[in-house]
Amino acid sequence: MTSKSGQSSTAGSPLAPGWLEVPADLNALHEPLWAAGVERNSDGELTIEGLTVSELQRQYGTPLFVLSETDFRARARAFSDAFNDAFADICGGVDVYYAGKSFLCTSVVRWVEEEGLRLDTASGGELAVAARAGIPGADVALHGNNKSDGEIHRALDMQLGRIVVDSLDELDRVAAIAANRGDTAKVMLRLTPGVHAHTHEFIATAHEDQKFGLSMAGDSTEKAGLSAAEEAVAAAVRHGSIDLLGLHCHIGSQIFEPDGFALAAEKLLDFLAAMQTKYSIVLPELDLGGGYGIAYTPVDTPRPAAEIAQAMAAVVRSKCAALGISAPRISIEPGRAIVGSTTFTLYEVGTLKTVRVDSPGAGGDVTHPRRYVSVDGGMSDNPRPVLYDADYSAILASRASDAAPQLSRVVGKHCESGDIVVRDVYLPKDVAAGDLLAVPGTGAYCWALSSNYNYLARPGVVAVRDGSARLIVRGETEEDLLNRDMGV
Ligand SMILES: Cc1ncc(COP(=O)(O)O)c(C=O)c1O
Repeated sequence: MTSKSGQSSTAGSPLAPGWLEVPADLNALHEPLWAAGVERNSDGELTIEGLTVSELQRQYGTPLFVLSETDFRARARAFSDAFNDAFADICGGVDVYYAGKSFLCTSVVRWVEEEGLRLDTASGGELAVAARAGIPGADVALHGNNKSDGEIHRALDMQLGRIVVDSLDELDRVAAIAANRGDTAKVMLRLTPGVHAHTHEFIATAHEDQKFGLSMAGDSTEKAGLSAAEEAVAAAVRHGSIDLLGLHCHIGSQIFEPDGFALAAEKLLDFLAAMQTKYSIVLPELDLGGGYGIAYTPVDTPRPAAEIAQAMAAVVRSKCAALGISAPRISIEPGRAIVGSTTFTLYEVGTLKTVRVDSPGAGGDVTHPRRYVSVDGGMSDNPRPVLYDADYSAILASRASDAAPQLSRVVGKHCESGDIVVRDVYLPKDVAAGDLLAVPGTGAYCWALSSNYNYLARPGVVAVRDGSARLIVRGETEEDLLNRDMGV
């Protein structure tokens, strides 16, 4: 059998996971994985808005994060438009807070602001980026389960639109700090609705046992019958220095189905209505967090933002009607769904080796080849495969190839056998040292989680817009790495 490009399609390796198919055309780009504007040119080389990856390597080196600003802005707008449309008749629209933890630098803050979004931060450092970018504090939220006094002061100095309080302890601390300053803190309470969504399924029980949020379970505090969530509402109402805006939840990440979001929204609305009645208050805001999934491999099929937004809006509309309350203003906090697919990481191939591996379940005497393709980065620029067993895909980027597919494992250069960039991928057999590989879907939680393990310099980030590229975060130098070593 022969594919469109003339490649022979071979049977898959028995070592490959069940979901991984041998691609019909190894040169083809599976569209959901890539930013708009990424394609192969007539020479077969990967380009972004016409810039070839070899030019990018010459100018900026590898590894390199290549981010499409055009695509980032389009995804931010698409999310915001989809949710604003779906909720327009319910609460006048939605406030979209871009989750900065996924990838943050001052340029990104400016794009977010220019596209009409707000910013979700989770530390004093992220607030420093927000401040340097000049976004108004009113458009910024601060999260975190262990905010320092300094971070709380900074939030009040910047007059943040909301501090998302995570525990009873913290509520008292925020109240005391605000009172001492003669200030009022605008607060949302982060609740754990007992809905934890993970990847494709959600489980509506059990997830009390984690560090985030105030439990909604009836017996979660020592005060008989009061949940931690209710105790926090009661305390917030008592504190003169707290302006209680509403409730927040975040049920997980990389979620494809809207059901978990909808269930969490229902639970929070039930609670919100009960608190409004019991404490004679109005809670005007409800934040349903982030977690919308993206494609990392060809088998991932994320739903369009509009579909999720419509499903969530339908639930909020009917629940508010059933409870007889006017709908609170809804906010969401997508990170990965905005930045994840805007970026690919460019690596140069170095060492290659092939090992023979026992066929699973075949008794040890049948072995199959697995090729290890080493690249010039690894777990220091993308720890997600090590941390979460995350799957990625990769393509040969510097040229097209008609060679047959070979099951490959893309690995980094760190002193760690778990240093895997892409666990299983079919790459052309003729991949060789000096070739460039591109790994798509690395915009979220890759650069943000990067490290200097083995004293590797963290890569730079290049943003591409209108056919030109510019560094928005420069890569580290050896001097940067040595700067903090006091040598005493
Ligand atoms: C509170 C909160 N909001 C939003 C997000 C963003 O999640 P995602 O990037 O999956 O949309 C996270 C991620 O951990 C989070 O903890």
